Amino acid sequence: MCGIVGFTGRREASPVLLEGLRRLEYRGYDSAGLVTSTGNELHLRKKAGRLAELRGHVAAHPAPGCSGISHTRWATHGGATDRNAHPHTNTAGDIAVVHNGVIENFAALKHQLQAAGTAFRSDTDTEVLAHLIGHYYHGDLVAAVRQALSLVKGTYGLAVMARAEPGVIVGARLGSPLVVGVGADGMYLASDANALAGFADKVVYLTDRQICALTETDWEVRDQDLSPVSVAVSDIGHFLSDGDAGRGAYPHYMLKEIYEQPETLANAMRGRLTEADSTAHFGGLNLSAQQLRQIDRVVMTACGTSYHAAMVGEYLFEELARLPVEVEYASELRYRNPPMDRNTVVLALTQSGETADTLAALRESKRMGHTTLAICNAVGSSIAREADGGVYLHAGAEIGVASTKAFTSQVAVLTMLALYLGRTRHLSSTQGQRIIDDLHALPEAVRQALRCHDHVKRVAAKYAHAKNVLYLGRQYLYPVALEGALKLKEISYIHAEGYPAAEMKHGPIALVDPNTPSVFLVPRGSVFDKVMSNMQEIKARGGPVIAIASAGDREVAAVADDVIAIPDVPEYLQPIVTAIPLQLLAYEVALLCGCDVDKPRNLAKSVTVE
Ligand code: F6R
Repeated sequence: MCGIVGFTGRREASPVLLEGLRRLEYRGYDSAGLVTSTGNELHLRKKAGRLAELRGHVAAHPAPGCSGISHTRWATHGGATDRNAHPHTNTAGDIAVVHNGVIENFAALKHQLQAAGTAFRSDTDTEVLAHLIGHYYHGDLVAAVRQALSLVKGTYGLAVMARAEPGVIVGARLGSPLVVGVGADGMYLASDANALAGFADKVVYLTDRQICALTETDWEVRDQDLSPVSVAVSDIGHFLSDGDAGRGAYPHYMLKEIYEQPETLANAMRGRLTEADSTAHFGGLNLSAQQLRQIDRVVMTACGTSYHAAMVGEYLFEELARLPVEVEYASELRYRNPPMDRNTVVLALTQSGETADTLAALRESKRMGHTTLAICNAVGSSIAREADGGVYLHAGAEIGVASTKAFTSQVAVLTMLALYLGRTRHLSSTQGQRIIDDLHALPEAVRQALRCHDHVKRVAAKYAHAKNVLYLGRQYLYPVALEGALKLKEISYIHAEGYPAAEMKHGPIALVDPNTPSVFLVPRGSVFDKVMSNMQEIKARGGPVIAIASAGDREVAAVADDVIAIPDVPEYLQPIVTAIPLQLLAYEVALLCGCDVDKPRNLAKSVTVE
């Protein structure tokens, strides 16, 4: 959510900044801006709208100089306008700030500054920072930033420049990620290491309350008392390469990512399933065999799509590992104080590893002394670094704002974790081996499921006019119903709700009419007959039915208006395979509705504010 890129070195800054912003634009696309420095002048350029607007503006009005900071915004305080775009400056225009996060006490600080005669030019919380830093600036930008931040409540990842210190960029972090990049031609600062691939060779992750100062040739990190701290410098090698940032022949990242799933699932499993002991192995769990056996409860926490994956995890852990699981929205868990005993493990699921609520829930759990684990995609992200142990998805960067491949990889990793935990408890080696065989067959099943695409297009054309859509499933497929509904609403803006199919009778069935299609998840399995009865109840009330069903299922075809076929897989793997047509359906409907699939309105990838 929002992206920051800074550069100071021996080449023109604005092309570097614009390229970095291009890679981060999916994190916020309400406006974009940059400021560069040439000796004693700051060149400020900013525009509401997509990055293309800024690019055009900079082409017409170049921003010269070899140092600069930039921002792509997801609006929190103040609408998406030119004047609310970052960077923000103080009244004299000699301090420029870009900021991710939320200054919670900005109203009080703004009031004080206004009372002292400061005129504000935007509605943002960030402008307060520019004025405060300007107020405290007496030739030492690091000291001024530190002093200003001592008054601030809230979260920030920020980059600051002063006209009087050309070539210097100061950054600070509390709650919003920030990474320093060290390159052959200069120093970089970014909210995400992906922006720096191909530019920087090494990266340094700031932790909360650290402040960094970059010059053309050097960098340093200090703590909040401005004492120098030693930090780990890592190789950037494993991050997104420049080529990965493209969508190739696909019209949208979302479609590319949907089609990548056979491969991303194979990547999630690679090297982790061992036939010799019929179990899974994970390098980074950091749990001894004894700790593992002592786990008697798991609390899974996440947001959005990752939360739906966690809900599937609950069924998986219960069935395969016989472990009690509770799934909790991270935004709720962070403020709850649920009784948990020492043997409860808190497992956070997150694609980005930066979701503010999930990070806060993880930290609160750690503070209470619980072992914390994370299932995470973004390597080196805050949650990946702060959890006691974890498992990476290895799904590659997910750029489409609607999560697709991360969901299926999360479920695959949860299945492997359930296998691993199950094998330390009651699962026999034969049962373990059967699960391994099923998992090995999964990428091919997903490849087959993708073949429904043309048919999904026709189904989408039939129903794209709907104002409301219901998604219904039971057991393992109830969370998938929630996920299917989320996919549709977030990219097509059509209202959709997911329910456990049998729950319809308790209220939601009142919504059913000939204009309200219901998407039923009804492949063959233990609750097939039950779901068929639920389907009949909808048909009896004139509701159109789209069924996601086992290939060749005549019983379903006799009742449903449209059937999308998927290959048969064991019930516990159905969430992954049934997710495919739902992702494609949302994608095709969104296209027909003329929506921007990769950048849906009001959304951003990676929600780093509360
Ligand atoms: C929906 C979507 C979001 C994210 C949620 C959590 O398609 O992408 O609901 O799943 O914001 O994000 P992560 O997984 O990065 O913590």
